[in-house]
Amino acid sequence: SIVILDFGSQYTQLIARRIREQNVFSAVLPCTASLDEIKALKPLGVILSGGPCSVYDADAPPADPRVLALGVPVLGICYGLQFITHHLGGKVRSAEKREYGHAEVSLVDSGNALFSGLTASLSVWMSHGDEALELPPGFHLTAQTANAVAGIADPERRIWAVQFHPEVHHTRQGTELLRNFLFNICGAKPDWTPAHFIESTVAAIREKVGDGHAICALSGGVDSSVAAVLVQRAIGDRLTCIFVNNGVLRLNEFEKVQQTMRDKLGLNLVAVDASSRFLQRLSGVTDPEGKRKIIGNEFISVFDDEARRIFESNNDEVAWLVQGTLYPDVIESSSVKGPSQTIKSHHNVGGLPENMKLKLIEPLRDLFKDEVRRIGRDLQMPEDILQRQPFPGPGLAVRILGEVTPERVALLQEADDIVVSEIKSAGLYQQIWQSFAVLLPVKSVGVMGDQRTYAYTCAIRAVHSEDGMTADWVPLPYEVLKRISSRIVNEIHGINRVVYDITSKPPGTIEWE
Ligand code: XMP
Repeated sequence: SIVILDFGSQYTQLIARRIREQNVFSAVLPCTASLDEIKALKPLGVILSGGPCSVYDADAPPADPRVLALGVPVLGICYGLQFITHHLGGKVRSAEKREYGHAEVSLVDSGNALFSGLTASLSVWMSHGDEALELPPGFHLTAQTANAVAGIADPERRIWAVQFHPEVHHTRQGTELLRNFLFNICGAKPDWTPAHFIESTVAAIREKVGDGHAICALSGGVDSSVAAVLVQRAIGDRLTCIFVNNGVLRLNEFEKVQQTMRDKLGLNLVAVDASSRFLQRLSGVTDPEGKRKIIGNEFISVFDDEARRIFESNNDEVAWLVQGTLYPDVIESSSVKGPSQTIKSHHNVGGLPENMKLKLIEPLRDLFKDEVRRIGRDLQMPEDILQRQPFPGPGLAVRILGEVTPERVALLQEADDIVVSEIKSAGLYQQIWQSFAVLLPVKSVGVMGDQRTYAYTCAIRAVHSEDGMTADWVPLPYEVLKRISSRIVNEIHGINRVVYDITSKPPGTIEWE
C-alpha cells in the first residue's frame, strides 16, 4: 500500500482517491501516527500531504521526522515539502508573494524519475504561504516558478517533493506525476481491483466470523446493500438482514426493497413493518430534533428486539453486526481537525454494539462511495440500487414540516414519486445528488375547475453535492419543473401549490429539518 500522512489539507482525501484510481491501495493516517502504525501497513511509499500550518507554528502538527528514514520512497506535497526541508536541515520562510491558484512551473531537472514523460513546463495548482528558501544537504532543485522553489529531490535517499498539488484536477499532468511515483519509484502494482477486493474481503470475513452469525440493518441504499452482499458471500444465510418499515419510507418502498433484496440478491431478510408504532410515537411532535430522536430510538428498539430473537434462536456466543461505514467517515473521525458542531443528529445504529456486545464488521471501511459502486457492479447488483440517491434515515419525517400524520405521509409519498419519476424520465436522476419533494403545512387558496381549493404547499428541492457537506441548488429545466408542478397539483388531492427551493448549503441544509 501507499501511506498518506495527513497534515490537515483539504485535499488529503483527493490524494487517496487519485492513487486508488490507479488501482493501488492507499491509506490515510493522521500525521501523528507512530512509526509502528505506519510500518504495520507495509508501505511501498509514503506521501506527506499539504496542511494549513507553518513548520514554525507552535501548534504545527507533531509528526515524527523519522518517517523520512524508513527506507521507502517519500513524496512531499506542499506542506510535505516544507516538512522535509525543515527537518532535514534546510530553511523555510514565509513567502513574500503568496501563491494561490494557477501557476506555471518550469522543470529544472526533467531527468528525475518523478517527472519522467512530463513536459518542460507544467500548468499547476498552488496553495501555500511558506516556501523553501535553502534546500537541505543532499537535495537539488527539480522545478521552480517565477517566485519560488516548486520541486526538490534527493534520489539517493529516495525523497521527492513538490510545492504544488498534483492531486488537484487543475494540475494538468498531476496524474502522470503520481503514476511516476507509484509505478517507477515505489514499484507498486495496479492490483487493487474490485475482483481482488471482493476476493480478499470475503476471505477475511469468513475467517473472522468463523461459525458465528451476523446481522445487518438494511436501508435499501448502496452502502448497506453492498456490505450485506459481501458478508453473504462469506457466510451465506448465517447473515440475517433486518429491514424496518418506519412508516416514513417512500411510495411502495417497503415492498420494493424486499423484492430486490430477497429475489434479486438472495439475501436472508427479515422485514419488520413497524410503521404504526413509529407513526404513533410521532403523533403531535413538531420539533425537528424531537422527530429525529424518536425515529432513532424507535429504530434501535425494533432492531434490538429482532436481533435478540435471531441470536437466541441460533444459540450464539459470537455475534456480529455488519455496518456500511465508508472511508470518509473513518478519516473524519481520526482527522487532525477538531470535531465540528452538530447541526442535525444523524441517526444510525451506533448505539447498538455497546448494549448488545456485538462485534463490528465493516467491509467498506476502506472505500470511497464511487468505489462501493464499482464493487457493487462487480457483484452484479442491480443498477437501481447502486445509483440510488441518498435518503435520510428519518425518511420523509424530515421532509414533512410540522406534525407527521399518516395522511401527510401519503401526500408526500405521491408527490415524491412524481418528482423522482419525472427527473428519471428527463435523464437527470444520476447527475443530481438528491432530488425530492417537501410537504409544507401551509395552506393556500387555489381554483380547480370552478371550485375553490384550500390545500397544502409542496416544495421541490434538487441539489448537486460531492459529499453532502456542501451543496448547490440545481437549476432544473423549466420543462421538467412544469411537468412536475402540473402533475402534482392535478394528481394529488390535498396539494394545490408547488414552489421551488433555490437555497444552497450553506446557508441552507439539504433536508428541510
Ligand atoms: P443535511 O440536511 O444535513 O443533509 O444538509 C446532508 C446529507 O445527509 C442526509 N441526511 C441523513 N442521512 N441519516 C442519514 O443517514 C440522517 O439522519 C440524515 N439526515 C440528513 C441528507 O439526505 C443529505 O444527503
